[in-house]
Amino acid sequence: MSILIKNGRIITAEQDYSADIYCEDEHITRIGKQLDAPPNATVVDATGKYVFPGFIDPHVHIYLPFMGTFAKDTHESASKAALVGGTTTFIEMICQSCSEQPLADGFELWRGKAEGNSACDFTFHQAVTRLDKETEGQLTEIVRSGITSFKVFLAYKGAFGISDEELYHTMRLAKKLGVIVTAHCENADAVLALQQKLLAEGKTGPEWHYWSRPPRVEAEGVHHLLTFAEIHGTHCYLVHTSCEEALQEALLAMQRGVNVRVETLIQYLLLDKSHAELPNFEGSKYVMSPPLRDKRNQEIFWNALRQGFVSTVATDHAPFDFKGQKEMGRGDFTKIPNGIPSLEDRINLLYTHGVCEGRLDLNTFVDCASTQAAKLFGLYPRKGTIAIGSDADLVVYDPTYRGTISARTHHLNLDYSAFEGWEIKGRPHVVTVRGEVAARDGKFVGTVGRGKLLKRDTHASR
Ligand code: URP
Ligand code: ZN
Ligand code: ZN
Repeated sequence: MSILIKNGRIITAEQDYSADIYCEDEHITRIGKQLDAPPNATVVDATGKYVFPGFIDPHVHIYLPFMGTFAKDTHESASKAALVGGTTTFIEMICQSCSEQPLADGFELWRGKAEGNSACDFTFHQAVTRLDKETEGQLTEIVRSGITSFKVFLAYKGAFGISDEELYHTMRLAKKLGVIVTAHCENADAVLALQQKLLAEGKTGPEWHYWSRPPRVEAEGVHHLLTFAEIHGTHCYLVHTSCEEALQEALLAMQRGVNVRVETLIQYLLLDKSHAELPNFEGSKYVMSPPLRDKRNQEIFWNALRQGFVSTVATDHAPFDFKGQKEMGRGDFTKIPNGIPSLEDRINLLYTHGVCEGRLDLNTFVDCASTQAAKLFGLYPRKGTIAIGSDADLVVYDPTYRGTISARTHHLNLDYSAFEGWEIKGRPHVVTVRGEVAARDGKFVGTVGRGKLLKRDTHASR
């Protein structure tokens, strides 16, 4: 299987130049001017188009038992959607409830769901929802198998959340094993108390979700987590950072020398709390945690991305239908399954609103949507760049395309889109995964089950 991509404008996190790319046996083998290829090679004309490294979404949920239901996508539907939208690798959270089986069983369960069903490459963050001696041993084995990041929840007490004692020991173990700890930072007790107060006052609609998780509750979570990170010198990564207050806590910790990186989401850059206030329970489509924030935060996060204070733009893809799932929370916002799906649209939205509107240059766009995730999570330079020897994960991107997002045309297994009717300026023309064309002009043309579980480096070995 060989592919020649001709006359494209190649954009990586550092470079911008025109050349041909030749890929053979899953890898990029040649980059240069006027390359030729054997007659049986697939030739893609990239004249007038960008060639980006395959994009990486470092935070998705696909198999997810959560809030009394299950997320709607399968690995087949999610990976098809990801590829059509230019994402060639995703990192899924293994979120096993703290009351369930050994963590090792969770890892096997999630791996079994993905392997043989995903069309794009994938790996996992292993949630630590309990910590004792036995679990420490299991986590050590999981890390050895190439899952080199943990996830901790300070929120969702009783489901995924851990105690401070467990957090202390998780941070210690992570430091010892050289792995990075990704974290959901919201103070669980404050959330619970505020939820109870609001419900007792008869404030039951989706618009009250925000008030149960105000910015200070997230900022406290960040401060709390980073205190424990500082004690052990553990490398941390704040998932779905939504507001200035939380970002400030991260920046203060960075000043103290804490090794922390920040993720935000495409939803926080483009949607705001007024969406969750839409009438007729439409607001429930926009309920996630932390909640959508006041619009003024958006410019702060675009600036922080440009300046490198925020490293990545993810989706936290967590798909629940409006009918029958979001509706579980009619009359009680605390029962609305949390999540705003956006796996298929992240790149086109980031390009349209970031690059086309002059907020991000092309290199920063690639950096925050691909390269940084590869570097932070032990995949670089195999993924996240265009270089000889790298996996042939490429996105030939057509900047002249114009279209609209709709649930009627998306590949997700979901009955709505939070971005229904939004215009996009540009989309992937051709997407390759390890040298195979997997999407073309909005259609999936790849192979379900070809996606590989990626074995990653530990932080210590990077
Ligand atoms: O609302 C969200 N974020 N849903 C998915 C679970 C999580 O907290 O990441
Ligand atoms: Zn979370
Ligand atoms: Zn998440």
